Amino acid sequence: MMSPRERCSAVKPADAALGKPTHDTDAAQRWPWWPLLPLYPYGRRRTLVRELIAGRIWSFEQLQGVWYVAVPIRMTVLKVADGLMLYAPVAVTAEVRAELQQLEARHGPVRTIVLPTASGLEHKLPVPAMARAFPQAEVWITPNQWSFPLALSPRLLGFPPGRTKVLGTDGLPHANQLRWLPLGPLDLGLGTFLEYACFDQATGALLLTDALVAIPPEPPSLFDADPTPLLFHARERGDEPLLDSPEHRRRGWQRLVLFANFLRPAPLDVAPLPELLRHSLAPGCRGPRAHFGLYPFRWRAGWQREAAQLMPGGPEGIQVAAVLERLVFPRQRAALVAWIRLLAALGEVRWLIPAHYEAPVACSPTQLQTLATELEARPWAPSTGNWAFLAGVDRALLRFGLVPGEP
Ligand SMILES: [Fe+2]
Repeated sequence: MMSPRERCSAVKPADAALGKPTHDTDAAQRWPWWPLLPLYPYGRRRTLVRELIAGRIWSFEQLQGVWYVAVPIRMTVLKVADGLMLYAPVAVTAEVRAELQQLEARHGPVRTIVLPTASGLEHKLPVPAMARAFPQAEVWITPNQWSFPLALSPRLLGFPPGRTKVLGTDGLPHANQLRWLPLGPLDLGLGTFLEYACFDQATGALLLTDALVAIPPEPPSLFDADPTPLLFHARERGDEPLLDSPEHRRRGWQRLVLFANFLRPAPLDVAPLPELLRHSLAPGCRGPRAHFGLYPFRWRAGWQREAAQLMPGGPEGIQVAAVLERLVFPRQRAALVAWIRLLAALGEVRWLIPAHYEAPVACSPTQLQTLATELEARPWAPSTGNWAFLAGVDRALLRFGLVPGEP
């Protein structure tokens, strides 16, 4: 069976202009708006550009995360009849602009910018800057946009007046080529969950945002330029220096994914404070890159088994991210399953391109139907093992009336 990267290269011929860090400098990767959502890697956002489907679909990937728990976030660029459409923008650095200009030279101007989610702050925040970078483009946003703690209007959220349209309400962009399918609106209490899937009928590619992902067992190539987050989490204790090897990278990635999915996975202990301090500031760990040796995590035997379940690789790995299942959809399984069945009925789905983790992921209508059946059959939003911490958060939110109970 082909690995995800082999599958990817099977659909993308070598392209000398793409897939290389052609603008790999601090200045080209500067993202000045990072304080609005202060996530790693803060003010410097490297971008990996890959052609996913020849002449048709490109992936712009950046990293983002908390305390080195960093996962890929993706903008998908799609060829449309008279130019390009950007689905789920990422931070628009000079590097991103230069790469998009190369695509514009060959495929026409950026015509459309789509914010396909009502709730995903990490996708929402880059939109105003991307809209300013392409002042001729139409901006389409998902309805039910919300902000917290202040409820700001779309204009105050930075969406440009005069050229911002609402998906569904004002029509749908490129409707002769694309089919749009919303999941939601679902009541989250503080706001609304609503995500628009976009199906490109010509290629069979299904663009998604957060609802489904596939997590590769190997670290994404996005980490090749700087594997620090992987090496940080590969250690057993804080006084170990950050060592680079394929094994360290793989171990760090798998632990990082357990964190990203469960926030506090079950096979994890937290070191007592005296031990934490004793191991800090060891030789080789005295700089900010190693967080001065402050590393409170102790992984218990058997954590690899939990990681392997999350990351089988390929189509078998298509899943609802645990944090979404337990905190966003814990009482909305029926709506999610119904939406997946509608996706399966869209036509000849061949690829999933989510906004996080692996892409493209080979897929088919049958696989989506199977996924829907499996989600219905297995226990939903469990509360034990890896899920215990998320379940505790959900219980607390319910207790304070911040999220709704059974619909
Ligand atoms: Fe997201």
